[in-house]
Amino acid sequence: MSQDQPSKADNDVWTIGKLINWTHQYLTDSGSTSARLDTEVLLAEVLGCQRIMLYTRFDEDPGDAVRTNFRELVKQRAAGCPVAYLVGHKEFFSLKFQVTTDTLIPRPDTEEAVQVVLDLVKGEQVQPNRIADIGTGSGVLAITLATELPETQFLATDISAAALQVATSNAQAHAVADRVQFRAGDLCEPLQGEMVDLLVSNPPYVSTAELEQSSCEVKDYEPHQALVSGPTGMEIYERLVPEAITCLTPAGWLVLETSPMLADSLKTLLTQHAFKNVTVRQDLAGHPRIVYGQR
Ligand SMILES: C[S@@+](CC[C@H](N)C(=O)[O-])C[C@H]1O[C@@H](n2cnc3c(N)ncnc32)[C@H](O)[C@@H]1O
Repeated sequence: MSQDQPSKADNDVWTIGKLINWTHQYLTDSGSTSARLDTEVLLAEVLGCQRIMLYTRFDEDPGDAVRTNFRELVKQRAAGCPVAYLVGHKEFFSLKFQVTTDTLIPRPDTEEAVQVVLDLVKGEQVQPNRIADIGTGSGVLAITLATELPETQFLATDISAAALQVATSNAQAHAVADRVQFRAGDLCEPLQGEMVDLLVSNPPYVSTAELEQSSCEVKDYEPHQALVSGPTGMEIYERLVPEAITCLTPAGWLVLETSPMLADSLKTLLTQHAFKNVTVRQDLAGHPRIVYGQR
């Protein structure tokens, strides 16, 4: 059997169970740190079933067409392509979002930004008529919040027209397109003077040097425009924070995702721009992740 092409040996059927075990080992050897999950997600996609259903189908012969399609995806995964780009979607806050190579793959850490906004609303620190999501990418922040806050209108911006197309289709899929307006342009400029009660953003915050050190999976596949801010990582924040002040209604909130390395600098930046109640929220791994404050 060749290394990258499992084939049906004489008297040997490549059942779903065997495919999973073989591919798990193959992707582990190829350097994936999530080989079992990758295997199951890719196979479930090709079979058109939920991942959990694989376990009831272990002895099934999936047929040549499935094996061929699966083999092609596994090859690309072994070469480094992220699973989300191969299957074309990613789960975020228990919702399914379309992703393409024009959009960042949504990260679990970003769900903490959603939680901060929901906590501010629940705690009645803000009752937002309108929220802006700056650098919306696939639209995860605006769309997830729109599903949670049915009375709120959303403005979502991005510099990438291609990303906004994906975001628009995600808004339609989640039935919130009537409350989320997508606008192309630089940071808050597309808001065109319209004020919002809360501004949330997961902007690019990776430094140029950090990108060089990141995994091939990130560096070779995800859009650099979505990741890299500049030499220090702070460049976008340094423009966004003063811009946000001009878009926020009095006592409005600014909620920003960041990296644990930049959280202190970002907290200082918000304080220097006279934001009050500046707070840092940790992610599930206990790292400082969300910095937020009130105008
Ligand atoms: C880190 S990604 C976040 C995407 C999405 N919000 C998420 O959390 O998955 C940053 C996004 O900001 C966009 N972006 C980069 N520079 C921008 C700018 N100057 N103005 C507006 N959007 C920008 C990128 O195209 C990308 O979609």
